[in-house]
Amino acid sequence: MRKVRKAVFPVAGLGTRFLPATKAIPKEMLTVVDKPVIQYVVDEAREAGIEHFIFVTGRNKTVIEDHFDVQVELYDTLAQRGKDDQLARLQRMQPAPGQTSFTRQQVPLGLGHAVWCARDLVGNEPFALLLPDMIMQSEVGCMKEMVELYEQTGSNIIAVQECAPEEAHKYGIVGRGEDRHSGFQITDMVEKPKPGTAPSNLFINGRYILQPEIFDILQHQEKGAGGEIQLTDAMLKLRKSQPFYGYHYTGRTFDCGSPEGFVEANVAFALWRPDMHAQVAHVIERMVADLKPVERRRSRR
Ligand code: G1P
Repeated sequence: MRKVRKAVFPVAGLGTRFLPATKAIPKEMLTVVDKPVIQYVVDEAREAGIEHFIFVTGRNKTVIEDHFDVQVELYDTLAQRGKDDQLARLQRMQPAPGQTSFTRQQVPLGLGHAVWCARDLVGNEPFALLLPDMIMQSEVGCMKEMVELYEQTGSNIIAVQECAPEEAHKYGIVGRGEDRHSGFQITDMVEKPKPGTAPSNLFINGRYILQPEIFDILQHQEKGAGGEIQLTDAMLKLRKSQPFYGYHYTGRTFDCGSPEGFVEANVAFALWRPDMHAQVAHVIERMVADLKPVERRRSRR
């Protein structure tokens, strides 16, 4: 069985929901506590054994490339000042020389098209795909668990989580078949189903392991939901010739593509950090206590 060595990160999106913050800064570089969003996703891939990181970028995204480069002067300065912990932390997150590749999507034709842009960099091997809008929190990373399921099945894997039925139209939704290994067989996939038509309440949470045959399908894939070339439509075609397994992730997922999800991620990751937990929990408790009189006043009106 071929090992999953490479991961693709589609980072070409404009981030219009975060204007004006994203006028000059890519949304993937917004910080959750003290790391850019993209670093969480790259760290998740590295934990899963990924050795090569492929970024599908767009205009105004060069700072992402700079972020993953060695900053020689900064590292020297930290070393001279004895800031060994900070230096070690940066170095742990640093890809080794030759471990990153960057290509541009050029035109925003949708997720399926962004993935297809990585075809030559991936080549003829299975690959992980991580959508950086979604960051996750659990003791063991979502992608690491997916790689374990891949090693049992050698198939395509999609991570899913439960959503409220009224939220289903925002996502790709899968149909659930029989349980197998640590996952289940996927019977159907629909991108952004119309109300009342979703095959289940299991939404695709932005983590995939895909076989390279997806690229041949994406090459000819027509536009689907939202007038975009949809990865879900191409996966549905690939399912006719290859098995797809669902992995039910039970950790927490934050949709950093929306300001509300981004704020929630900041609070959750600050509380998750042993060095910050007590202070942040105290601040939140105080804020919530201050809110109560306001809520009481509102409810009396
Ligand atoms: C994409 C996928 C969708 C998935 C979602 C997760 O949609 O097409 O299947 O559920 O990511 O974030 P988008 O968020 O690009 O509309």
